[in-house]
Amino acid sequence: MKEISVGLIGFGTIGAGVVKLLEDNRELIAGRLGARLNLKKIADLDITTPRVVAVRKEMLTTNVEEILKDPGIEIVIELMGGYEPARSFLLEAMRHKKQVVTANKALLATHGDEIFRTAEAEGVNIGFEASVGGTIPIIKTLRESLTGNGIKSIFGIMNGTANFILTKMSDEGKPFDVVLKEAQSLGFAEADPTFDIEGIDTAHKLAIVLSLAYGKRVNLKDIYREGISGISRLDIEFARELNYRIKLLAIAIARGDSVEARIHPTMIPLDNLLANVNSNYNAFHIVGDASGSIFLYGQGAGMMPTASAVVGDLTDISRQLLKGVSGCVPARALREDLIQNIALMPQEDMVTSYYFRFSAVDRPGVLSRISGILGTNNISIAAVIQKGRKESGAVPVVITTYKSREKDVRNALQEIDKLDVVLDKTVVIRIEDDKL
Ligand code: HSE
Repeated sequence: MKEISVGLIGFGTIGAGVVKLLEDNRELIAGRLGARLNLKKIADLDITTPRVVAVRKEMLTTNVEEILKDPGIEIVIELMGGYEPARSFLLEAMRHKKQVVTANKALLATHGDEIFRTAEAEGVNIGFEASVGGTIPIIKTLRESLTGNGIKSIFGIMNGTANFILTKMSDEGKPFDVVLKEAQSLGFAEADPTFDIEGIDTAHKLAIVLSLAYGKRVNLKDIYREGISGISRLDIEFARELNYRIKLLAIAIARGDSVEARIHPTMIPLDNLLANVNSNYNAFHIVGDASGSIFLYGQGAGMMPTASAVVGDLTDISRQLLKGVSGCVPARALREDLIQNIALMPQEDMVTSYYFRFSAVDRPGVLSRISGILGTNNISIAAVIQKGRKESGAVPVVITTYKSREKDVRNALQEIDKLDVVLDKTVVIRIEDDKL
């Protein structure tokens, strides 16, 4: 049986998972591929700490050049993460005509153009299924299965850590900090937890998804982004009362020649599928103009689920090598020369429903002053909740709205937060009521 030699850069959690999977399912994979995947070399700075899987000592090296310069190695897997030296290693591998597989979403979201163009120029494949949604085949779905569709919208839960935190806060009433520590100990949080909590990791993933769905280059900075660190138990409780659950959603909606793209904590109805995606699970609700709704669900992080996506890419690319072809599927689902910059829709023009929690003095006429300002800014009220009475200090007054323009909301809140009867900055959470 023919053998294809593979080099692995990065022997951390996911790297070890890939080695284990290639070992555990060796015969199954060989049978499906019609060839053997021979993991020839593994490079990492740490080659002494024991991993979940034992490897022969001579397979390990601290010198990446032993992989990049080995003419026998046909596919290089990069699982070290970070920008440098991961970027240089990937570029060098491709310049040596090696096929590459990576899970590095931060790198693809910021240096994707250079990397994808190099892959095309060198005539090599790049697999990056593991960069978004862990085990979920979202890249393959957008790149291959939905080729015949214009993509109307994508709503996704793309960060397992944030979802784990919101789920625990909601189900167990635990505070944010305690749950964050639990997530970190389970091993799916990023090295820097602000990437998970502040929606940066989600933005990396959404940028990749946008480029595949719309064949465009997206500037990460243009994506509107809000994280979950401001979500309090009080808002989770109010959401429950209003029949919503709060999720950190990544949203992409085609708007004519432009695309609306935003990431923020979102209240969604309890009977919506996304509201029921819990713990560290991820999900994507995609609407194609021919396909209609597609819902993908699975583990967005973790050793073996992510390894599954890496091995899927390995076999895809190996099949092309075995047939002597390459680049059958364009990296970004579109001919590279057709890929253009995209101007995302200005944030101020976004339209959605809103939840406001005002910290207001409990006195006659306060609600009418607040609602008056909302009214003069074209914001129509859907519901009001005020509970409890307080002689002094503030009480929470919750107002939900019908669809309103972001610009109007910003203007109204600026005015309201200046009122002498409003004692704290108003909490704003967007609501997506549409049936998904
Ligand atoms: N930190 C990421 C998450 C890992 O929590 O989803 C997978 O990208």
